[in-house]
Amino acid sequence: MRVALFSTKPYDQTSFQAANAARRHELVFFEPHLNLSTAALAAGFPAICPFVNDQLDRPVLEALARQGTRLIALRSAGFNHVDLIAARDLRLTVARVPAYSPHAVAEHTVALMLSLNRKIHRAYARVREGNFALEGLLGFDLNGRTVGIIGTGKIGAVVARIMNGFGCRLLAYDPSPDEACRGLGVRYTSLTDLYEQSHIITLHCPLTPKTHHLIDATALERMRSGVMLINTGRGALIDTQAVIAALKSGKIGALGLDVYEEEADLFFEDLSNRVIQDDFFSRLLTFPNVLITGHQGFFTQEAMARIAETTLRNLSDFEQGRALINEVRAEQVLR
Ligand code: NAI
Repeated sequence: MRVALFSTKPYDQTSFQAANAARRHELVFFEPHLNLSTAALAAGFPAICPFVNDQLDRPVLEALARQGTRLIALRSAGFNHVDLIAARDLRLTVARVPAYSPHAVAEHTVALMLSLNRKIHRAYARVREGNFALEGLLGFDLNGRTVGIIGTGKIGAVVARIMNGFGCRLLAYDPSPDEACRGLGVRYTSLTDLYEQSHIITLHCPLTPKTHHLIDATALERMRSGVMLINTGRGALIDTQAVIAALKSGKIGALGLDVYEEEADLFFEDLSNRVIQDDFFSRLLTFPNVLITGHQGFFTQEAMARIAETTLRNLSDFEQGRALINEVRAEQVLR
């Protein structure tokens, strides 16, 4: 099948070309993001393959449908960037990669927790400058601390297993609790209870209209003073301005982000020679207790190989009229 891949980097070409050796789809790699002005690149392609910060709103989907595209093969687990109702109206099929490696994101989540707790980001810079002072590097034992996990799907469940290994007490909030997590000792509770009790709160629910700005001023107010907040889910789960205020007041003791609500203009690019125009993002970078990575949670060898493999299998299934097990339908967001 002829596929236009958007927002591609050399590492995408490497993983997709390796996975395509046996399948022989015709892959065309485009560097630009997909939006209304670049949609024309997909003219005549029956399938396109976008990434997380590509724009898939109604106008873009209309343009794609007009040009003959029939399949949107997302190379991501998240599908919050797709207007699924518009896709349904336009008879565009949408597929995703639901589980490429929950371990990749879960392990990155724990890396952020450990780094922030033991101030590894600060220690690294200090030691390189010959500063071996320990002031400001005091951490706490994870053992015995309470970790609140919001969303115990594939990624959240792995986070639960890892944190259980550290000897943490585990609380969770999820409208569909997971029995394996319960078996591990995870106690499902209300969001309010989770906020009030957790020393560390980590977000692993999808971004939907219901979870948009889940962590706002009201939620932060309920949390313990000095809480560590980690977001490797989606940027807009957090109200950035409310979080900045909570960092300034000391309510948040540490913040780890792999995603940011306005990341589309920043992440995945080398902007080191430019002035960052986003004042909220710039403010976040000034705090010593904030650690931000640029949406790299998924970026492991295993995950990249599986993303490519599953995306190409989705393409083959669609092309050959087989059941598309990874299809995403509007009904899933309307529930
Ligand atoms: P999943 O679909 O397996 O799990 C999501 C869980 O969230 C489900 O158990 C669901 O019941 C729960 N949930 C739904 N609404 C909720 C709510 N209002 N409050 C609490 N829980 C709720 O998804 P998976 O694979 O675990 O991924 C989770 C999220 O992680 C994705 O939606 C995506 O946004 C993000 N992600 C981030 C990556 C990164 O590189 N940083 C890579 C992959 C995913």
